Amino acid sequence: MIKVENLRKAFKGHVVHAGISFVLNKGETLTIIGGSGSGKSILLKQIVGLVKSDSGSIIIDGKEISRLGEDKLQEVQKMIGYVFQESALFDSLTVGENVASGLNNLARLTALETLKIVEEKLALVGLPGIKEFKPAQLSGGMKKRVGIARAIAMNPQILLYDEPTTGLDPVMSDVINDLILKLKKETQMTAIAVTHDMKSAYKISDRVAMLYQGKILEVGTPQEIQNSKNGIVRQFISGSSSGPIPIPGQKFQPLKSE
Ligand SMILES: Nc1ncnc2c1ncn2[C@@H]1O[C@H](COP(=O)(O)OP(=O)(O)O)[C@@H](O)[C@H]1O
Ligand SMILES: [Mg+2]
Repeated sequence: MIKVENLRKAFKGHVVHAGISFVLNKGETLTIIGGSGSGKSILLKQIVGLVKSDSGSIIIDGKEISRLGEDKLQEVQKMIGYVFQESALFDSLTVGENVASGLNNLARLTALETLKIVEEKLALVGLPGIKEFKPAQLSGGMKKRVGIARAIAMNPQILLYDEPTTGLDPVMSDVINDLILKLKKETQMTAIAVTHDMKSAYKISDRVAMLYQGKILEVGTPQEIQNSKNGIVRQFISGSSSGPIPIPGQKFQPLKSE
């Protein structure tokens, strides 16, 4: 469903991705873990075509997206739902209008059809009957779920989650984990989540990949990652301050520009 090959991206000489490759089968959930600034969000943005890569390829459902024109790219984008970090809801719109904003303009739906989709998706994320609320009236966990309802409005085949549990308390985080699992089961969507919440990564993933210094350092099932022999992976997943990972301000070693 998704094949990423030797993807490279730098911003003004600062290398973010130094050759990333992975394959994701239909219906599978891959979680990408990695520290803040390791390039997780940028990777999702490249997959959805919001950010252009410098080189390498991203093949989605057989199409190389970096070589598609605007029209064809939009066709592929219709297949992909994107759950933004921090929910990113429009504060001035109601919850229902926010969910409806996930519907493609080209879909040309009647008001009644739109209402039906909004109600169906809000029910699916466990929030029936809140479409008249404003985002400011919602808790963080509810906002995340509205963000998910918006992302699945078009019934995408691929769903990208950017830090779905960050900023939530442990109980609400687990409500989101359960929702991600439920959507996987009920819709067979292929999903990529990026997170540094290890509990969530273990629970929602078929496979976990660790992004470090611009590359995928290791990929495996949650169990394989938990048993990793790699010192960097072990330090990251245990959340320890001592180990091989350089701490900014201590012995910071910037990536060399290629
Ligand atoms: N538009 C941009 N211009 C310059 N640098 C950027 C831009 N977007 C992201 N970066 C840099 O790319 C790196 C990775 O960012 P990001 O993918 O957001 O990290 P994270 O893993 O925390 O999601 C960071 O060092 C960030 O400063
Ligand atoms: Mg990010």
